[in-house]
Amino acid sequence: PHQFIELLPFANHLLPLPSLQAVGSDGVRISMESALTARDRVGVQDFVLLENHTSEAAFIENLRKRFKENLIYTYIGSVLVSVNPYKDLEIYTKNHMERYRGVNFYEVSPHVYAVSDNSYRSMRTEHKDQCILISGESGAGKTEASKKILQYYAVTCPASDQVETVKDRLLQSNPVLEAFGNAKTLRNDNSSRFGKYMDIQFDFKGAPVGGHILNYLLEKSRVVHQNHGERNFHIFYQLIEGGEEDLLRRLGLERNPQQYQYLVKGNCPKVSSINDRSDWKVVRKALSVIGFSEDEVEELLNIIASVLHLGNIQYGGEDSGNAYITTDTQIKYLARLLGVDGLVLKEALTHKTIIAKGEELKSPLNLEQASSARDALSKAVYGRTFTWLVNKINVSLTYKNASVIGLLDIYGFEVFQHNSFEQFCINYCNEKLQQLFIELTLKSEQDEYEAEGITWEPVQYFNNKIICDLVEEKFKGIISILDEECLRPGDASDITFLEKLENTVGGHAHLTTHKLADGKTRKVMGREEFRLLHYAGEVNYNVNGFLDKNNDLLFRNLKEVMCMSDNKILTQCFDRAELKDSKRPETAATQFKTSLAKLMEILMSKEPSYVRCIKPNDAKQAGRFDDVLIRHQVKYLGLMENLRVRRAGFAYRRHYETFLQRYKSLCPETWPSWQGKLADGVSTLVKHLGYKPEEYKLGRSKIFIRFPKTLFATEDALETRKHSLGERVTYHMVLVDGCHLLSLRTVAWWRGILACRRAQRKRQAANTIRRFIKGFIYRHNERCPENEYFLDYVRYSFLMKLRRNLPKSVLDKSWPTAPTALIEASEQLRKLYMQNMVWGYCKRINPEWKHQLEQKMVASEIFKNKKDNYPQSVPKLFMGTRLNGEEINPKVLQSLGSEKMKYAVPVTKYDRKGYKARPRQLLLTSNCAVIVEEAKLKQRIDYAALKGISVSSLSDGVFVLHVPTEDKKQKGDVVLQSDHIIETLTKVAICADKANSININQGSITFTMGQGKEGIIDFTSGSELLVAKAKNGHLSVTAPRLNSR
Ligand SMILES: Nc1ncnc2c1ncn2[C@@H]1O[C@H](COP(=O)(O)OP(=O)(O)OP(=O)(O)O)[C@@H](O)[C@H]1O
Ligand SMILES: [Mg+2]
Repeated sequence: PHQFIELLPFANHLLPLPSLQAVGSDGVRISMESALTARDRVGVQDFVLLENHTSEAAFIENLRKRFKENLIYTYIGSVLVSVNPYKDLEIYTKNHMERYRGVNFYEVSPHVYAVSDNSYRSMRTEHKDQCILISGESGAGKTEASKKILQYYAVTCPASDQVETVKDRLLQSNPVLEAFGNAKTLRNDNSSRFGKYMDIQFDFKGAPVGGHILNYLLEKSRVVHQNHGERNFHIFYQLIEGGEEDLLRRLGLERNPQQYQYLVKGNCPKVSSINDRSDWKVVRKALSVIGFSEDEVEELLNIIASVLHLGNIQYGGEDSGNAYITTDTQIKYLARLLGVDGLVLKEALTHKTIIAKGEELKSPLNLEQASSARDALSKAVYGRTFTWLVNKINVSLTYKNASVIGLLDIYGFEVFQHNSFEQFCINYCNEKLQQLFIELTLKSEQDEYEAEGITWEPVQYFNNKIICDLVEEKFKGIISILDEECLRPGDASDITFLEKLENTVGGHAHLTTHKLADGKTRKVMGREEFRLLHYAGEVNYNVNGFLDKNNDLLFRNLKEVMCMSDNKILTQCFDRAELKDSKRPETAATQFKTSLAKLMEILMSKEPSYVRCIKPNDAKQAGRFDDVLIRHQVKYLGLMENLRVRRAGFAYRRHYETFLQRYKSLCPETWPSWQGKLADGVSTLVKHLGYKPEEYKLGRSKIFIRFPKTLFATEDALETRKHSLGERVTYHMVLVDGCHLLSLRTVAWWRGILACRRAQRKRQAANTIRRFIKGFIYRHNERCPENEYFLDYVRYSFLMKLRRNLPKSVLDKSWPTAPTALIEASEQLRKLYMQNMVWGYCKRINPEWKHQLEQKMVASEIFKNKKDNYPQSVPKLFMGTRLNGEEINPKVLQSLGSEKMKYAVPVTKYDRKGYKARPRQLLLTSNCAVIVEEAKLKQRIDYAALKGISVSSLSDGVFVLHVPTEDKKQKGDVVLQSDHIIETLTKVAICADKANSININQGSITFTMGQGKEGIIDFTSGSELLVAKAKNGHLSVTAPRLNSR
């Protein structure tokens, strides 16, 4: 009974894989064979390479092998087969994206990024709009795949500021649409309950600049009812779990989904894989990225809350009697949230108005009618709000007329225990997509081969047009029959629809009913079911509810109430014009059919790529590969058929002219132009490229290439060739419709210029290197043409280095080593620079610091390199005085009279006889040094009488003040010791102006004791400081050595 289309190929068996070599005119050989084998360690990465390509078992075995190794992607030619891993594989990083960017399909392992990139490049180079069709059953990973594709474009495409917002909005549209359009089902925790087609638009630079979304048939029934274990749309739970306290209060909601009739049907408020609270935050943020104002968000949430309140409206009354509302609080909330009159709403929820012969009739509803009216309102409100949401997103994406890649993520083929109107629509949609697949790939191939006069091996495949016709044909199709029953007056019901089906299309090969079926089939069918023999398998549909769902009726008075709403979103959703329109609105099935027809048109105008998603098991588990389940999917995705056709046909074809224009530079005979017939030119070219006879065929106007790889190899040769072409290359490009050839000579001219510039730059670079090497060899010679460049470079680079490395402070003595030619200049520069720095430093210092430095200078002149403990004194600041006023006896001060005290320090005095140590104070005034014992002024030495000062070269603090022996007033020289010897003597030197009278002695000091007697102090180095009278009668001073000389 199946209708077959025969394709007649030219050979019985597929020839062994040709060795893939392309030989460019410059002799570059590109072999991909080894690379391919290496990559195929786990099964084959392209089913086309399967040994036994007709065996389903071999097909599934290959899938299994790869799946076990986490290789979830495999090709059938250019179709990507993807098995849901149900775990994070870390194959979606930025690095992975980079790996696939701009790389030929076959050079890297199969990936959804490869498909993304391939479409992108085709769009850019061939100027043809693309679409990626993602199919598979619920939970197979379609939505995930579409998100990966979008992310790929967001990350890898060029961008600008304005593009960033568009990118963000494109990405952020996902969480919003998923919140409102996805739900937890038995098959998928995040199941898309609507079909989605999204255009991503790219400008001439290839940057994404806009987008547009089309939505299909939202499963509205979910708003009011969910099967066991399933949930309503995510947004309800997100709002209840995540909404802030005062938001919920405003909406009159409680933080408990169990409170709401519309959320309890499936008895499944919580799902472990879903975090409603954090998802809420994501959605709120996404809404603002997309450009929702706070008011719009509020109105949107008012609607969502209203639906929950509607669900909680309860009715009282007898079964057959009139229904009345028992829950007034809900009406109150609804009136406020929807901005409608509560009484009018109450009336509308319990009555219906019908216009008959221009007169309005109002009749009360019974219990059942009232609750279905209420549910119809909920569904209508939610459904229309969803469509509004999509439109709103579209406005924010600013649709432009640009190149397009379309993404289709639409419900896959569905077979449940009980299948209803929704499954009927969904499976019809899949029939249409299959039809498209056939039309685009198989049928068009056959037509083309025929037109080109190429013969083929017969490939049998099932053309499902017959099923599409059964569903959609005017007057005779199932949808027409259903509509007829919906519209006809009288006692039409789901059962009369079934009977009509039997009467009208009962004889059709792809339809049967309980009544018409043979005994065996009848056993597995209900009386209210009809069975369709889909291309993917048989499905029984229960007609219960078909009429209602198709009618999708909302009573007029409920519509009227909504039209009066203050809520701005609802006023856009419910248009008053709708009320005036006396025509019946289109039925759901017809609307769906029309929108599908439009979708097919959109897809037909584009070049398609396919992602076929497979679900490995029903348990949503990683690592489980359920054979039966997978075999079923392989079958209804048509993968075996797909493979068979791929293996039989020629993968690529190009018009001779295009082909020759593109590749003529690869062959001396065809370059720069071919004068003879195009076909001969192409023939010469491919022979030169080494194509084997079985790899290609020449038709009437096109060349047919059997394997994509052959073409890729040729492309690679072209790439290599392009780089080696320094001269002008004339390129011709084919524009979209193929009949329109535009010679882009400007492009060629520009490329020529670029190539010239590149060559020039290379020449310059080589020259520079050469001069440099020569210069290095002659660098010690006098300046000459050979080393000129090098020497200048060395000078220049020294000066640049110096500039970067100048000393930072006056103490920093570093200075870069100068090259021989610059030593003198460098030294001059250093001096200048240091002077400058010192000058700057001096300018910056204050008077106290200056005074300090002056004293330090004096100390340095006296002691530097002469006294062992001098270096230790350098970092210590000199004090103004070591004794303040209170520490000096007032009597002493009094006796000094008007003489100004300049410095005072505690000292130890050694007696002239016996060298006994006595604590004393040494005071310096402007005229004299005074030795004080408590209140007694023991000795006064006028500076004029100070003959000299002696001190040792060691680290001790002993010093002698020498006075003239003839001075009778004095009792002789004074032997003192200060703990701050450098400071003390510097002060003495300054006050007495005796810097030149300080003698630094090694070994010993001789001093007078009065009456002509002499004393001797001996200095020696030792481990510690020791001052004592020695046996020889001298004063012996031992001092530790602090600095080695
Ligand atoms: N490539 C992947 N890597 C990891 N996990 C994945 C991948 N694809 C799918 N999944 C998992 O499978 C789940 C279902 O995938 P997805 O929602 O894309 O299915 P679907 O085909 O869109 O189903 P439906 O038709 O119900 O919308 C995801 O939530 C995710 O957990
Ligand atoms: Mg989905």
